[in-house]
Amino acid sequence: MAKMEVKTSLLDNMIGVGDMVLLEPLNEETFINNLKKRFDHNEIYTYIGSVVVSVNPYRSLPIYSPEKVEDYRNRNFYELSPHIFALSDEAYRSLRDQDKDQCILITGESGAGKTEASKLVMSYVAAVCGKGAEVNQVKEQLLQSNPVLEAFGNAKTVRNDNSSRFGKYMDIEFDFKGDPLGGVISNYLLEKSRVVKQPRGERNFHVFYQLLSGASEELLNKLKLERDFSRYNYLSLDSARVNGVDDAANFRTVRNAMQIVGFMDHEAESVLEVVAAVLKLGNIEFKPESRVNGLDESKIKDKNELKEICELTGIDQSVLERAFSFRTVEAKQEKVSTTLNVAQAYYARDALAKNLYSRLFSWLVNRINESIKAQTKVRKKVMGVLDIYGFEIFENADNSFEQFIINYCNEKLQQIFIELTLKEEQEEYIREDIEWTHIDYFNNAIICDLIENNTNGILAMLDEECLRPGTVTDETFLEKLNQVCATHQHFESRMSKCSRFLNDTSLPHSCFRIQHYAGKVLYQVEGFVDKNNDLLYRDLSQAMWKAGHTLIKSLFPEGNPAKINLKRPPTAGSQFKASVATLMKNLQTKNPNYIRCIKPNDKKAAHIFNEALVCHQIRYLGLLENVRVRRAGYAFRQAYEPCLERYKMLCKQTWPHWKGLARAGVEVLFNELEIPVEEYSFGRSKIFIRNPRTLFKLEDLRKQRLEDLATLIQKIYRGWKCRTHFLLMRKSQIVIAAWYRRYAQQKRYQQIKSSALVIQSYIRGWKARKILRELKHQKRCEEAATTIAAYWHGTQARRELKRLKEEARRKHAVAVIWAYWLGLKVRREYRKFFRANAGKKIYEFTIQRIVQKYFLEMKTKMPSLSPIDKNWPSRPYLFLDSTHKELKRIFHLWRCKKYRDQFTDQKKLIYEEKLEASELFKDKKALYPSSVGQPFQGAYLEINKNPKYKKLKDAIEEKIIIAEVVNKINRANGKSTSRIFLLTNNNLLLADQKSGQIKSEVPLVDVTKVSMSSQNDGFFAIHLKEGSEAASKGDFLFSSDHLIEMATKLYRTTLSQTQQKLNIEISDEFLVQFRQDKVCVKFIQGSQKNGSVPTCKRKNNRLLEVAVP
Ligand SMILES: Nc1ncnc2c1ncn2[C@@H]1O[C@H](COP(=O)(O)OP(=O)(O)O)[C@@H](O)[C@H]1O
Ligand SMILES: [Mg+2]
Repeated sequence: MAKMEVKTSLLDNMIGVGDMVLLEPLNEETFINNLKKRFDHNEIYTYIGSVVVSVNPYRSLPIYSPEKVEDYRNRNFYELSPHIFALSDEAYRSLRDQDKDQCILITGESGAGKTEASKLVMSYVAAVCGKGAEVNQVKEQLLQSNPVLEAFGNAKTVRNDNSSRFGKYMDIEFDFKGDPLGGVISNYLLEKSRVVKQPRGERNFHVFYQLLSGASEELLNKLKLERDFSRYNYLSLDSARVNGVDDAANFRTVRNAMQIVGFMDHEAESVLEVVAAVLKLGNIEFKPESRVNGLDESKIKDKNELKEICELTGIDQSVLERAFSFRTVEAKQEKVSTTLNVAQAYYARDALAKNLYSRLFSWLVNRINESIKAQTKVRKKVMGVLDIYGFEIFENADNSFEQFIINYCNEKLQQIFIELTLKEEQEEYIREDIEWTHIDYFNNAIICDLIENNTNGILAMLDEECLRPGTVTDETFLEKLNQVCATHQHFESRMSKCSRFLNDTSLPHSCFRIQHYAGKVLYQVEGFVDKNNDLLYRDLSQAMWKAGHTLIKSLFPEGNPAKINLKRPPTAGSQFKASVATLMKNLQTKNPNYIRCIKPNDKKAAHIFNEALVCHQIRYLGLLENVRVRRAGYAFRQAYEPCLERYKMLCKQTWPHWKGLARAGVEVLFNELEIPVEEYSFGRSKIFIRNPRTLFKLEDLRKQRLEDLATLIQKIYRGWKCRTHFLLMRKSQIVIAAWYRRYAQQKRYQQIKSSALVIQSYIRGWKARKILRELKHQKRCEEAATTIAAYWHGTQARRELKRLKEEARRKHAVAVIWAYWLGLKVRREYRKFFRANAGKKIYEFTIQRIVQKYFLEMKTKMPSLSPIDKNWPSRPYLFLDSTHKELKRIFHLWRCKKYRDQFTDQKKLIYEEKLEASELFKDKKALYPSSVGQPFQGAYLEINKNPKYKKLKDAIEEKIIIAEVVNKINRANGKSTSRIFLLTNNNLLLADQKSGQIKSEVPLVDVTKVSMSSQNDGFFAIHLKEGSEAASKGDFLFSSDHLIEMATKLYRTTLSQTQQKLNIEISDEFLVQFRQDKVCVKFIQGSQKNGSVPTCKRKNNRLLEVAVP
C-alpha cells in the first residue's frame, strides 16, 4: 500500500497501446497491428483490461529475471508495462490480502506458450510467497511435479517440441499468511491414441525415448529392453531425436524430480516396468490361422516378446495369450466365448497398451497428489492454474472426437469467461453506483447446450447410440444427430442441410459442422463411437488384474471377478462432461484471471509474425469479443487518487497540491478541461471514462503540460543551481581568505620571534664571553702565582740537594784519600819484609793449584767408554790446551784397546773382512751401506748336511769359503739360471743347483778382475785371464744377493793365495769378453715396471743392458 501514489503508469512509454481497451478504432486490423507492433518491440504481453494476451516469442527474453520479479512485486496492475508477472502478482495479492480464491485460466492453441505461462506463474508465486525450509520443500515439490508430468504427458508434435498431450488443472493451496501448503492436480483427456500411433513428424510420449536413452545398461537389462529405438513398433522413428532435447539428461532430471516429489524407489521402478511393458506390447504380432469352422483365428507370431512381458509383469503367459485370441462376453448368466481374428487381436493389443498407459498416467497424477497434498486441515486459500488446449481446428475435416471434446471444453471456458467478466463488470457498476448500460455481445450458452444437453445434446446422443443394442456405427450416430439437431442454428450437416433443401457442397459426407463461438469446425464422425466406448475386452482387464505386478493389478480393478459389473463403464464423453462440469463449478467459485496465448507462426521461429495465423487465433479465442465486453459502457476506469495524481498539473486549482478529497479534485479538473459530461461518470471510488479518445486527449494534454513543467522546473533548477554555486563560491572564498590571513600573520609572528631570539642570543653570548674572559684572567693570575711558588720551592730544594750531594762527595773523597794514605803508609812500612822472588813462588803455587783442580774435575767429567762417543769436556784454561787434546787422544786409544780386547779371533776375522769391504766399497758402490748390518756367513748353502750335494762335497777336498746360489746370466740372451757358486782356497766352482754336478772350475790364478756397477744392484762380472783354459767360453756374469761379501772374500782369498791384489772395477759401463766378442755391459736406471728386481737384456752382440731400479 506504500505505493498508493502512482509514479509510473502503463500509459508511460507505451508501444502501440498496452491495453487493447484503449484501441481506437477497434477492429481486427488495428488489433493485429497493435499486437505486431508490440511484438516487434519485444513486448509480448498486452492487456485486454485485466486479461493478459501473450504472444509466444520462441526465444528467451530477459524479462523473467529475479530483478523483474522484484519490479512487479506489490505493484498495481496498471503501473508497469503489461507482464504475466503483473497478473500473477495481482492474483496472489488478492488471494493473500482479500482472501479471494483465484484461478488462472490459460488458453491458446498448441505451442502458443500455455505451459510456459503456467510455469512462469508458478515460479513467480513461488518467488514472492513465504520462505523457510518447510515452505521451500512444498514449493520444490510443486515445481518438480512438472518434469514428471511432462515426461509422461508431453510429446513432440509438429507444432510444439514439448506439447502437453493432456489438460492440467492444478490447485495450489496457501495458508492465511499466503505460504504454500500443497496442491492438487487434475488431469483431463490424455491423448492416449499417441501411445500406439503417432502422426508423421511427431513422437510418442517423451518417457519412452528418455528411458531408452537415459537408463543404465543394468536397468535396461532388468526391464528386458534394448537401447535401439528401431526395435519398437510403437516408437515413430522419423523424429526420434529432437534438436536441442537431450533425452538421456531429461531422464535423469525426471528420476530426480520423482525422488523430490516423493516417489519411493520401488514405485519409480514399477512405473518404468509398466512403461517397458507397454513398449514391448507393441512388438507382439499376430498371424491368421484357419480353424475347422472356416473362420480365421489369430495366433501370436513370436511368443518371445509375450514371454518377456509376462516375466516383467508377473502375468501367467497362457492367460495373456488366451486373452489375445478369445473374447468372452458375459450376459446375465451366460458366458459366450468367441475367437478373435487378426484385426481384432491388434485392436485388443492396442487397446490394452493405451489403457495401461493412460491408467498409469492417472495413477501418477494421484500419486503426485498424495505427495503434494496439504498436510493440515486448516482453511486454505486456493489458486488454480488451468493449462488446457485451446480451440483446435484442423483443416479438411480432420477434426475428430478429441477435437470435439476439446472445443467443447473451450466453449465452456468462454461461457464462464463471459459470465464472470460480465458479472464482475456489473458488480463494479453497482459497487461504483454507475448506471448499467446494456452491452451487446455474443453469448455462447446456446452452443454449450447443443453439445451437453442431457436429453438431446450431441454427447447424450452419442452415449445413447453406444449403449443401444444392435449394430452401431458412426453412420447411425450421424443419422441420429441429423434427426435431433437438424434445427439447431449452430449445427450443420449435409443431411440436415438437405432436409432443408439447401445444398452445401462444402459439407462432405459423414461429417457434421458446429458453429462454435470461435468459428465453424467440421467434424469427421469416423471413430466417434469407438473412442467414446473406449472398449477394453474384459478378458484383458482380467488378465491384468491377475498380474503379480502390484501396480498393474491396481490399475485394473474392474478385472476382479469378485467385483464383476455387468454395467458398462461410463463412456469417455460422459466422463469428460462430468469432469468439465466439476471444473466449471470449481472455477465459478474463484476469481478468474485470464492468459490468452497466441502463436505468432507455425515454424517455432523467433521474430516471425504471421498475421493470417494470428488473425485466426484472435478470432477463435474471441479476443475482440473480450475487448468489447470489457469496454461495454466505459473503456477506462481509474481510482480517483491515481487519476488526480496523474492529471493534476492540467489545472491551476489542483496543481501542485489539492487539499480536498480526490473525487472533488477530479471533478474540478474535468470541469476545468471542459470534457463533455457524457464522456465520463463518477463512481464511488473511480472515475469511468467512456471513450479511449478522451483518455488520450488527457494524456496528450498531460504530455504537453509535462513539457512546460519540465521547462519550469529546469528554469528554477538552473537558477537554484547557479545561486547555490555562487553561494558556495563566496563561502569558499571567505574561508580561503581567512585561512590565508591567518597563515600570513602566523608566518610574520614566527619571523619576529626568531629574530628576537637571535638578537637575544647574541647579547647573551657577548655577556657570557665577557664574564668568561674575566673569570679566565682571574684563574690565570691564580695559576701564575702557584707556578711561581712551585718554581721557587723547586729551586730551593735543588739548591739544598746540590749542597747535600757536595757534602757527601767530599766525605767519600776524604775516606778514599785516607785509605790510600793508609795503604801507602802500610806498604812503606812492610816493604822491607818481602823477598825479591816471592812473586815466582806464588805464581808456581797458583799454577799447581789450578792443574790439580783441573785433573780432579776431569775425573768426574769423563765421557763413556764407547769408541764412537765423541763427547769430551771443555777446556778450562787456555794454557792447558795441548794437555787437554793429548788427554783426549790417550783416552780414546785406551778405550778402543779396551773395546778390541773383548773380541775373539773369529770375530776379529769377521771385522777384518768387514774392514776390507769398507775399504773396497765404501762411498764407491751404492749397495754397500745395506751390507754393513749383514753378517758375512760364507757358506750359505750347507753342502755337508744336504745329502743331495754329497757327490759335490766329495769332489772338493779343499776348504769351502763361499757356498751360495747365484744367478748366472746367460751370455747370449741375458736370461738367468741358478748355479751353486763355490769358492775354495784355490778354485772357483760353479755347479748345477739341482744335481750338484760341477759345471765349470776356474783356478783363482786365472781370475784377473771383477767388475760391477756403482749402483744398488747385485750384478758382477768375473774376468778371466786371456788364453787360459777356463776362459774359453768367456767371462762370467752373475747376480747375487751377497755381492759385497763375495767380492770381499774373493779379493782376500786371491791376496792370500797369489799375493796379488785382485783388480775390482766399479763402473756403470765396462767391457767383458764373450768368446771372441768384447761386449759392453751398460747399467741404466730402469723403469719401475719390473719392481725392484734388476733385469738384464742382450741388445746386440756389442751391448748388454742391465736395468736397475
Ligand atoms: N514466454 C516464453 N518465452 C520464451 N519461449 C517461450 C515462451 N512461451 C513459450 N515459449 C516457447 O514455445 C514452446 C511451446 O510452449 P508451450 O508452453 O509448451 O506451448 P503449449 O503448452 O501452449 O503447447 C516452448 O517450448 C518454448 O520454447
Ligand atoms: Mg502445453
